[in-house]
Amino acid sequence: MEKRLKSWQGWLLFAGTMAVVFVLGMLASSVTERRAEIASVINNKKTEIKDVEGRNELFEPNYPREYQTWTETADTSFKSLYNGNQAVDVLEQRPNMVVLWAGYTFSKDYSTPRGHMHAIEDMRHTLRVGSPMTEEDGGPQPATCWTCKSPDVPRMMQSIGAENFYKSKWSAMGKEIVNPIGCADCHEPENMNLRISRPALIEAFRRQGKDVTKATPQEMRSLVCAQCHVEYYFKGDGKYLTFPWDKGFTVEDMEAYYDEAGFADYKHKLSRTPILKAQHPDYELS
Ligand code: HEC
Ligand code: HEC
Repeated sequence: MEKRLKSWQGWLLFAGTMAVVFVLGMLASSVTERRAEIASVINNKKTEIKDVEGRNELFEPNYPREYQTWTETADTSFKSLYNGNQAVDVLEQRPNMVVLWAGYTFSKDYSTPRGHMHAIEDMRHTLRVGSPMTEEDGGPQPATCWTCKSPDVPRMMQSIGAENFYKSKWSAMGKEIVNPIGCADCHEPENMNLRISRPALIEAFRRQGKDVTKATPQEMRSLVCAQCHVEYYFKGDGKYLTFPWDKGFTVEDMEAYYDEAGFADYKHKLSRTPILKAQHPDYELS
């Protein structure tokens, strides 16, 4: 027997279809509106910003809302089960780490990370970069330590070259590196397109036979973070910032890379064992 729609079913189908079409239309119009809004923000800039601009406050007149959310990284009121955004003294919480890290600067001082606006003050505050350290203690530190802290880094690299930047002493760059992680670290200041400002990521991709400038917009949203939130080491006497990704992203791949390069982060003071200490491989593990 042939099944036919009853007339009320036909009307229901019709009404349902109309509702879906209506909602899709609303969505399309909202997308167009948002695009127009972005275009008008970019086309109605109050000030023109060129080149690598470290001073974050110069971006405020053009992008007040983005600027405002950026300042929220200064907030320290949040705390969760795993971590908050207050600098908590980990060595006080877990004194056994002092013994585990004996012979490495982390045994002197290690606090949990905070938001981007604190990057420079926290670095100046930590005992890990103090100059009165001996060679055996890992100090005095090279300027490479500044690399993930400020948009003044790509500015300085442009002016003196990345190699010379890494070779300098940490203290020698102190008067130049003053603005905490900000707009020019992730954006081209003229048009706010996402960009990779740090050579280490570009070079790590190149050694894997990949071109980071070919990344999709979706990949770029994570890659801007991967300039800093990764595992790294300082290669050779030039303290050249390098990501150990040539063999891949897993712990085993990176360990094999380090073994081949004969690299260890430190030699343990009591056991004399060479030890690798991962930094923050957030991009690799996510
Ligand atoms: C130029 C280097 C740099 C870039 C780029 C960068 N970060 Fe960070 N980030 C840091 C540093 C350094 C800290 C720690 C600052 C401190 O403790 O004072 C940090 C801290 C954080 C924190 C708070 C502490 C924590 O670990 O939970 C979050 C969340 C975070 N970053 C997320 C991101 C995300 C998401 C991106 C990409 C959209 C990004 N970061 C890009 C360097 C960077
Ligand atoms: C750690 C990286 C990072 C920092 C620092 C950062 N941004 Fe962004 N910004 C992003 C990402 C990722 C997006 C999303 C881009 C997308 O949707 O493709 C974005 C989007 C934007 C957009 C929208 C652009 C568009 O075309 O849609 C503006 C405007 C902007 N940011 C302004 C700023 C300003 C101003 C600052 C400094 C106060 C800043 N950003 C700091 C990563 C960053």
